[in-house]
Amino acid sequence: MTAGLTIDAAAVEQAAALLAAGGLVAFPTETVYGLGADADNVDAVRAIFAAKGRPADHPVIVHVLGAEAIDAWSAGAPTAARRLARVFWPGPLTLVLPRSARAHDALTGGQASVGLRCPAHPWARALLAAFAALRADPSAALAAPSANSFGRISPTTAAHVRADLGEKPAGRVDLILDGGPCPVGIESTIVDLSTATPRLLRHGSITRRQIEATIGCEVPDAGGNAPRASGGLESHYAPRTRLELVPATGLPARINALRGTRLAVLAPAAALLDWPADVVLRLVAPADSTEYARRLYALLHRLDESGAARILVAAPPQGEAWEAVHDRLRRAAAAAEPAEDGT
Ligand code: TXA
Ligand code: MG
Repeated sequence: MTAGLTIDAAAVEQAAALLAAGGLVAFPTETVYGLGADADNVDAVRAIFAAKGRPADHPVIVHVLGAEAIDAWSAGAPTAARRLARVFWPGPLTLVLPRSARAHDALTGGQASVGLRCPAHPWARALLAAFAALRADPSAALAAPSANSFGRISPTTAAHVRADLGEKPAGRVDLILDGGPCPVGIESTIVDLSTATPRLLRHGSITRRQIEATIGCEVPDAGGNAPRASGGLESHYAPRTRLELVPATGLPARINALRGTRLAVLAPAAALLDWPADVVLRLVAPADSTEYARRLYALLHRLDESGAARILVAAPPQGEAWEAVHDRLRRAAAAAEPAEDGT
């Protein structure tokens, strides 16, 4: 049966105990799997960075049970933050706020702000509740970046985490909770409210328009001097295989030009006709933006493992609903080295 439907209470209790003892637990959220540690435990938070191979000066998101924890982890959160939390929490929205003393440097990467998110996934909530009960502190929280090696494709299934980080002793994580595939599939929207002007640090399933409508002002993309966000690095969310985004109508010509190269292709069903033998894998791109986001990383994982020398992705439709998907695909494509023949 699908693990996503039923919470394994014994596994959640075991995970909470491991976390309270300073261990690392991978757990499902509605967006992607997170690699969690006790947010108050500096050594445990440092161990996350070691497990991921991530630079220590990158901040991690602090996952909390509810908006009541805002004042434990941040200081002087603006009204806009509380309004957003009321509307979108629990859910895929991260708020970057001025930090409190409790938000130590290992969490914030030494910055004056902290990222807070209240996840909606029932397994994540059960884990947070069990952990908070063990710690006898309702604002006990889990520091958790996505549970992937630094710079690699984010995990949306427990199998992705197992294949990348793995469980100890062979792997790097104390326990991987399997709560089934993540229903949203791409990382949370991040809004920076740590300065006077709200900024959008990362696109997600909650759109700019929804944020702006809630707080009643414009929320432009962050510029060059934005706080550090590894999701903002061009090379993030990258398959190992070079990935090219191709206008849907230009796909046949591009495939033709790449004759002799082993290709893996992600394109709408209508475009998946009459392919040359060089195409070793073709996957049908979901027509709906929510479905596309939900399956994006699993599709990228499969394309990357196909043995192809090049991945071609037909550019999805335009429009606000597709913005977060375009953002992830652009980053995946930007990571690729240009081929020696310049193609
Ligand atoms: O959906 C998500 O947000 C997932 C799940 C596990 O909750 N987490 C996630 O974490 O995507 P991570 O570490 O892979 O990406 C979090 C992003 C990073 O780009 C990080 O730099 C940024 O949030 N971030 C965290 N705290 C920040 C801060 N104080 N200022 C600016 N960016 C921050
Ligand atoms: Mg990540």
